[in-house]
Amino acid sequence: MTTTTTAGTTGTATTPATTAATTPVTTPTTTTGRAHPRSATLRARLGATVYDPFLARGERLGLERRRIALLAGARGRVLEIGTGTGLNLAHYPADVEELVLTEPVAPMADRARARLAASGRAAEVLAAPAEDLPVATASVDTVVSTLVLCTVRDVESALSEVARVLRPGGRLLFVEHVHAAGTALGRWQTRLAGPWAGCAGGCRCDRDLLAAITARFEVRTLHRAEWTGMPGIVRPLVVGTATPSRAATHGAWEHHVTRRT
Ligand SMILES: C[S@@+](CC[C@H](N)C(=O)[O-])C[C@H]1O[C@@H](n2cnc3c(N)ncnc32)[C@H](O)[C@@H]1O
Repeated sequence: MTTTTTAGTTGTATTPATTAATTPVTTPTTTTGRAHPRSATLRARLGATVYDPFLARGERLGLERRRIALLAGARGRVLEIGTGTGLNLAHYPADVEELVLTEPVAPMADRARARLAASGRAAEVLAAPAEDLPVATASVDTVVSTLVLCTVRDVESALSEVARVLRPGGRLLFVEHVHAAGTALGRWQTRLAGPWAGCAGGCRCDRDLLAAITARFEVRTLHRAEWTGMPGIVRPLVVGTATPSRAATHGAWEHHVTRRT
């Protein structure tokens, strides 16, 4: 993680030392915080450059509409994980109290910052992986994850962090592409998962992300959809809202206490 944090003055949140306005992130890092070798740096830059054009058709054919519908439910202090180039930015309700965007890959974060500056919206972009959020426990009302859990290094840790930072009653809003287990498509997803990850920034098309979410959260709303306009192996989507299950919340908080005190 490249962002450093200092204790917040309110006792309810940490204060990022690195913000869009002060210190742009220039060196891509891995999710473990180590510097990328040069080839990975170039790959990360290329990935950020092609990301929006690659998604454009899918956005037009329905994903943008899904983003708008999902994000209409964002309330209070909102934390987005893996914000990418900031495609969600335009769709947050105007009355969201605070918006914190996190993105560990510097070229992606740079694009999100540029989009943020053009939007005139107040928000900060923190260089942080979902597995280690620089945000205080129980300080967030809404966490947003759109097409991120496919790419995080450790889905369980990421979801544990999401559960940790949510206030009681807080919600996770998600759109994720998932494995179509038990189908011909699912078998292709399994076969092509490695090559796809190699050319799609580490994105795995063979993850059972709904099972991962339900292991830690109570799913409140859910529907299955298609990411029309995209390659078949990433088409099956789950779209929904969830709240941390009691056990997961206790687990996440214990995890927090052991790691952060
Ligand atoms: C497919 S993109 C989705 C971007 C954006 N959320 C969207 O809806 O367009 C996946 C994003 O997750 C980011 N990412 C990779 N590893 C991550 C991690 N460990 N934690 C959080 N985000 C990560 C990638 O850099 C990339 O920006």
